[in-house]
Amino acid sequence: MKLFDVYNCYNINLVNGKGSKISDDKGNKYLDFYGGHGVISIGHSHPHYIFRIEHQLHCLGFYSNAVKNDMQEKLACKLGKISGYDDYNLFLCNSGAEANENALKVASFHTGKSKVIALKGSFHGRSSGALAITDNSKLSSEFNAKHEVVFVDMNDTTALEKELSNQDVAAVIIEGIQGVNGVVEPSVEFLKSAKSLCEKNNALLILDEIQSGYGRTGKFFAHQHADIKADIITTAKGMGNGFPLAGVLIHPKLEGKAGLLGTTFGGNHLACAAGIAVLETIEEEQLIANAEKIGAYLISKLEDNKAINTIRGKGLMIGIDLENMTVIRKQLLEDHGIFTGSSGNKTLRLLPPLSITKKEADQFIEAFQKITQIVEV
Ligand SMILES: Cc1ncc(COP(=O)(O)O)c(C=O)c1O
Repeated sequence: MKLFDVYNCYNINLVNGKGSKISDDKGNKYLDFYGGHGVISIGHSHPHYIFRIEHQLHCLGFYSNAVKNDMQEKLACKLGKISGYDDYNLFLCNSGAEANENALKVASFHTGKSKVIALKGSFHGRSSGALAITDNSKLSSEFNAKHEVVFVDMNDTTALEKELSNQDVAAVIIEGIQGVNGVVEPSVEFLKSAKSLCEKNNALLILDEIQSGYGRTGKFFAHQHADIKADIITTAKGMGNGFPLAGVLIHPKLEGKAGLLGTTFGGNHLACAAGIAVLETIEEEQLIANAEKIGAYLISKLEDNKAINTIRGKGLMIGIDLENMTVIRKQLLEDHGIFTGSSGNKTLRLLPPLSITKKEADQFIEAFQKITQIVEV
C-alpha cells in the first residue's frame, strides 16, 4: 500500500529530538524553529514527559470514557489553575479541528441557532464545520460548504455588529492570533467589542487558541492580552507536546448532559499523562515567561534588518514578511539546518518550542542575518 498523496513535505526523515534540536536518519542535525507546526511546547523528548508517559504505559495506556478517569480531573484542575479559567468545564478530544467542531456544537445546542460568524483569513481545521468557518474555498468540498457561515473583516466592529443584530448567530469564532494568515492579531478593542456584542445578541464568543495558546504568546492564551474572557476556548497543539490531545474549555453557564458530546479516544489515560506532564513542565520551567522573553529578544534583534518588510507577533509566535521568503526559508534549512514555518509565500513563521534558549535564538539570528545580507546584495 502507498500513502495517500496529500502532503507537500520535505524529503527528510527525522528520527531523534532533544529540546529544540532534531536529527535525521543520516545524522544531520537541525534547530527546530517550527516545533512541528507549533506543537512542541516543552521541547522534544523532555525527561519529565517521557517519565509520565512511560509510567502510565506500565499502569494503563487506555480505557474509554465508559469509565471514570481521575487523570482527566487532574488535568482539568491543573489547566484551570494555570490558565485562569478555573471555573470552566473541560471536554477532552484529540485534535484542533475536533475541538472547534465540538465548540460549535456546544454553541449551537445552547443558543438553538446555527449561523456562525468567522473572520476573513481564518483557519480552524479541516473537519466539516471547522472547514466551513475557515476562509479558504480551495480546501472546501461541496459536502462542507453547506453550513451557515458569514465572514467579516478582522477589526471591523461595525460589520460584526450588523451581522449579530439579526439575532440568528450562535457563535463568533476568532483565533487568538491568526497563524495560517501570517501571524495577524485582532485588536484589543475588537476583542472587547466582540465580547460585549455577543453578550448583547445572545451569541457565544469562541476563541480558537489552538496555535496561539498554551503559553506561546507570553500569556496562557493570546486573548488574555486583551483582558477578556471567552465563553468557549479551544486548544490543541502544545497541549500534548506531540501526543494527540485537544480540549474545549466551556463556561459553566453552558451545561453538559450525558450524550451531548463524546469521543472514543479523547482524554484517555496516556493522553492525560502527556497533558499533565506538559503543564507541570510549563510551570516548573517557567516557560510562559521564557516565551515572552526570548520572543521579545528575537524581535528586538531582527527588527532593523533591511530585508524585513514587517515583523509582528507576540512571544514565540512571530511572522516575518520578506520579499524572498521561500528562498530564505530554504537556505535556513539547507545551509544552516534550521526548520521554520511559513504563511502563504511572503511570511516566515516562527513557532519554536517554548523552551528555546537565548543561545539557540542567537543561532537563528546569526543565520538569518547572514542569509538576508547575501540575498539583499
Ligand atoms: C488556529 C487553528 N485552529 C485549528 C487548527 C486545526 O488543528 P488540527 O490540525 O489539530 O485539526 C489549526 C491547525 O493548524 C490552527 O492553527
